[in-house]
Amino acid sequence: MATFTLPKNSTIQPGKTHKAEPGAKNVKSFRIYRFDPDSGENPRTDTYEIDLDTCGPMVLDALIKIKNEVDSTLTFRRSCREGICGSCSMNIDGLNTLACLKPIEDVTGDVKISPLPHMPVVKDLVPDLSQLYAQLRSIEPWLKSDTPPPPDGERRQSKEERAKLDGLWECILCFCCSTACPSYWWNGDRYLGPAVLLQAYRWIADSRDEATGERLDNLQDPFRLYRCHTIMNCARTCPKGLNPAAAIGKIKQMMVERET
Ligand code: SF4
Ligand code: SF4
Ligand code: FES
Repeated sequence: MATFTLPKNSTIQPGKTHKAEPGAKNVKSFRIYRFDPDSGENPRTDTYEIDLDTCGPMVLDALIKIKNEVDSTLTFRRSCREGICGSCSMNIDGLNTLACLKPIEDVTGDVKISPLPHMPVVKDLVPDLSQLYAQLRSIEPWLKSDTPPPPDGERRQSKEERAKLDGLWECILCFCCSTACPSYWWNGDRYLGPAVLLQAYRWIADSRDEATGERLDNLQDPFRLYRCHTIMNCARTCPKGLNPAAAIGKIKQMMVERET
C-alpha cells in the first residue's frame, strides 16, 4: 500500500459515533484517528462507545473488539499482545506506548488514540516506519567479528560483560521513543534518533563485537548522533522502561575518550 503524508493545512474532522448497544452499563468512549489515503478525504476522529463489561482490560482489547464487532475497517498493527513484538505502538491519551500494555482503566475520560506522531500515515493507526528501518539497517545491528567462534560454537562472556547489555537488549523496536523525540521530529532524515542509537550502543557495548571503531566512525557526524539535546522524552515514554538518552550519552563519552 502506498504511503501518504497529510496535505498541508488539513484538519482533523469530527467523524462518526458508534453508539454502545442498548442496555450497556459500563460504557467508555474511544476517540480514534481515522485516515484512509485512498478515500481522498481529510482525517477524522471516530468515536466508539464500548461496554467495558464485555471487553478485555487493555486498550488493545478494545481495538480488537471494535474491529471484530463494530467496524472492520479500523486498521492497526498488533501481534503478540504481551509487550514483546513492538507492533502495537501508538499514541494513547497523549503518550506513545503499547496498546497491549496500556490498561483502559488508567485513562480518565475518553480514550484518545492516534498513530505515533510525526510519521507519515499508511492508514488509521499504522505509521510508515520505512525511514526508521533504513536507519536501523545503517548501523548494522548484528555481531561483527573477524575471530572465528571457539570449537564448542559459543562466544563466551563474563557475567560483567553480559551485564553491560542490560537495559539495551530489552528494546523491542516499537519506536515510541524516536517518535516522541523533538530532535527526531525536526531532523529525522539525518538524526538517527533514540531507538536506533540505543541499538547502535547495544553492539558497541557487546564484548564479543570487534567493530567498535568502525561503529563509532559511522556515528561521528554532526547529525546522526549529535542532535540529541538530552530532552529525555525518550526515557519518559519507553514502555519497557529503558533509557535511550543514557545510551546516547555513553556513545558521546566514547567519542571523547578515543580523541584523548
Ligand atoms: S534525550 Fe535525546 S534522544 Fe531522547 S528525546 Fe531528548 S533529544 Fe531525543
Ligand atoms: S528504547 Fe524503548 S521506546 Fe525506544 S524502541 Fe526500544 S523499547 Fe521502544
Ligand atoms: S501486540 Fe506486541 S507489543 Fe503490543
